[in-house]
Amino acid sequence: MKNLLTPITLGKLNLKNRFILAPMTRMRGELDGTPTDIMAEYFSQRSSFGLIVTEASFINPYANTYPGNGALFNGKHLEAWKRVVEKVHQSGGKISIQLYHVGRSGNKAILGADSVAPSPIAINGIDFLTQKPYETPKELTKSQIQQILEEFHNSAVLAKQAGFDGVQLHGANGYLVDQFLRDGTNQRKDEYGGSVENRSRFLLEAVDRLIDGFSAENVSVRVSPTDRFSDMYDSNPLQLLSYLLPQLDKKGLQFVEVKRHGPVDPKKEKPGRQLPDYQIPNFYETLRPLLKKTPFVGNTGISVDEGTKLVQQGTLDAVAFGYLGICNPDLPVRIQNNYPLNLNADPTTFYTGGARGYTDYPAFSQENRQQAV
Ligand SMILES: Cc1cc2nc3c(=O)[nH]c(=O)nc-3n(C[C@H](O)[C@H](O)[C@H](O)COP(=O)(O)O)c2cc1C
Repeated sequence: MKNLLTPITLGKLNLKNRFILAPMTRMRGELDGTPTDIMAEYFSQRSSFGLIVTEASFINPYANTYPGNGALFNGKHLEAWKRVVEKVHQSGGKISIQLYHVGRSGNKAILGADSVAPSPIAINGIDFLTQKPYETPKELTKSQIQQILEEFHNSAVLAKQAGFDGVQLHGANGYLVDQFLRDGTNQRKDEYGGSVENRSRFLLEAVDRLIDGFSAENVSVRVSPTDRFSDMYDSNPLQLLSYLLPQLDKKGLQFVEVKRHGPVDPKKEKPGRQLPDYQIPNFYETLRPLLKKTPFVGNTGISVDEGTKLVQQGTLDAVAFGYLGICNPDLPVRIQNNYPLNLNADPTTFYTGGARGYTDYPAFSQENRQQAV
C-alpha cells in the first residue's frame, strides 16, 4: 500500500517520495533578492525531500515586503539561483521556486512604492514589520495587471534557465493572487472581480503565463481558500474552488496544493463570518473529486501520521511539510528509519539569525541523538 515514502511522478518529475518541503520565507538572502550560499546549504540539507519549494520569491522590485526573501527577475538573480539549484541537484534533490507578488501586504516604507491590490481595502491589523496599521493599497489598473502578468512570465522563463524543476504560483496566504480570488479583498467591477469566474481570472492568466514561460508539467499552484492569515476571507470558498480546481485540472499542471486553514478562535470571529470548518467540511475529502487528473497536495497542520493516512486512502497524492521541515532537515530519512522527530522549530529564528535556526538543525544520527532531537 502506498505511503509518504512511495515514489510519485508529478508532471514529468519523478520524486523519490511524497514529502514536499513547504515554501518558507526565511529572509537569509541579499536585500535585492539575490539568493546566498547559506540558502544553497539550507536547501541541499533537505534533499531527501521528494521536492523542495523555495520561499516566496518576488517578481519585480516592488513586489516584496520581507527583506531578504529571494527574487527572480534579473540576470543577477538568475546566476545566483543557478548555483542553488546545482547544489541541490548534486545532493540528489529536486527544487521548484515559489513566485509571488505581495499586493496589499506590502508597505511603502519597505516597498519604496505604494502597495497595490485588486481593490483599495487595507488589512485590518498591525504590520509586524513596521508595527503600524497596514496602508490602504492602490487599486490596480488593467494595464498594471497586464504588466504583473508579464513579470510572472519573465520569472518563469528565468526559472527554466536556472534549471529549476518547477515554478509554483503563490496563490495563498493573502498575497496578491489570493487577494484577487477572495471576495473580502476583491470588489472590482471589471472582468477581474465579481463572479467566481472573474475573481479566478487573474490566477488562471498568471498560470497561463507561467506555462508559456516554462511548461505546464513544471507549474504548480498553491491556494488557501479558508485561511485567515492577513485578515483574508471569502464568503463561499467551496463555490470558488468548485470553479477554480476543475479549470486548473484542464491545464496538465505538475500539481495543485490546497492549504487547510490555520487555527481560528471562534470567539474572535467577526460577525457574519462563517468558520472555516463549516465552509468546507471534510476539507480534503470534499475537494479531491474536483481534481480528476492533477496530483493533489495538502498542507497545514498535517502530521506524518495524518499525511500517511491521506495518501494511503488516495485523498492526497503528496504532503507539504513546513515546521517539521525546518527542524528535521532529513525528515523522510527519519520516517524511513523510524528515527525520532524533532518537534521544536524555534520561531525566534524563523526570519533572523543567519545559520542559527536555519542550517544548524542536525540530521539524525545515533551519535548525535541528543542534539538531533
Ligand atoms: C517561517 C515560515 C515562513 C513561511 N513562508 C511561506 C512562504 O514564503 N510561502 C508560502 O506559501 N507559505 C509560507 N509559509 C507557510 C508554510 O508553507 C506552511 O503552509 C505552514 O507552515 C503550515 O504547514 P505546517 O503545518 O506543515 O507547518 C511559511 C511558514 C513559516 C512557518
